[in-house]
Amino acid sequence: MESDFSYGFIAFRVKGTKPELLFLRRREGFLDVPKGHLENGESQMQAALREMREETGLVPNEIIKGFRMKAEYSMGRDIGKKAKHILLYLCRISGEPSVSSEHSGFEWLSEEEMRRSDESFVGNAKEGLMEAFEYIRRNQAIEKINSEYSRLPKSTPDWSLSRNFVPGTGNLLAGVMLVGQAPGAEEDRSGVPFVGRSGKLLDRLISIAGLVREELYITSVVQFFPPKNRLPSREETALCLPYLRRQIEVIKPRVIVTLGALSSYSLVGVERIALNHGVPVIQDGITYFPSLHPAAGIRFKKNVALLEKDFKDLGKLIG
Ligand code: URA
Repeated sequence: MESDFSYGFIAFRVKGTKPELLFLRRREGFLDVPKGHLENGESQMQAALREMREETGLVPNEIIKGFRMKAEYSMGRDIGKKAKHILLYLCRISGEPSVSSEHSGFEWLSEEEMRRSDESFVGNAKEGLMEAFEYIRRNQAIEKINSEYSRLPKSTPDWSLSRNFVPGTGNLLAGVMLVGQAPGAEEDRSGVPFVGRSGKLLDRLISIAGLVREELYITSVVQFFPPKNRLPSREETALCLPYLRRQIEVIKPRVIVTLGALSSYSLVGVERIALNHGVPVIQDGITYFPSLHPAAGIRFKKNVALLEKDFKDLGKLIG
């Protein structure tokens, strides 16, 4: 069977306080989203943005970070049957669309309207599309926490960490969250966790576990760089930990991989990480999986094998 890949957006507007998703009505009758094929040299995101412009005349006001929805379905019959793969991003828009000739109209649907609707949706993916509402709620909650957290240096006397906030990144619907110690110098510069040498090793470990970085949520206990890469103090950790706990409450992961001693101890009370890594601990319905910090693998080569073994076991645990 031939395969066909397309890229697009679940686009929403906020009416009052309620989000509504935009659907384009296909001439065949079902409700679709703006999407289409890659054109030469385009990235997936560029294709999605172009399709959005061409099919609705709209440009996103904001692309919501970390959201990716994949759907697979087949279309057509017999020899002409095609396996369709779609990848959708999420964006906020304003204004009314002007639909292209491919569509006969458009609909804005709230969560309630969508739940009640008996229309058919692209790829029979109504449930998947509805996850966008939950993502929007989580994104709002995380933005609120992060905005408070990022102001901590201003409101804390004798602040001695960097003033650059390095928030977590990834998918807010992730089932697996990875929590390190604190950002390093490169993360302090870029504002993104685990992009330096530890991050490169972490990427390799993630693939050993059979996982994909974009489907996880990655952060650290302390989300500000401790100058000279020192260990965050007990007071600094105590100040930052409540924000991490609130982030966890929003993301609701099934599994949290605690990377290194500070993360394993402060999140779940695991001491002596050299002995206790790789042994899961279940607490409050979350499976914590303590491992070494990737920086330990960079400092001492012998730790790389231990990390690889832990991540293989993590892969088995997650299934
Ligand atoms: N180490 C961490 O613990 N967190 C980062 O973001 C980078 C390195």
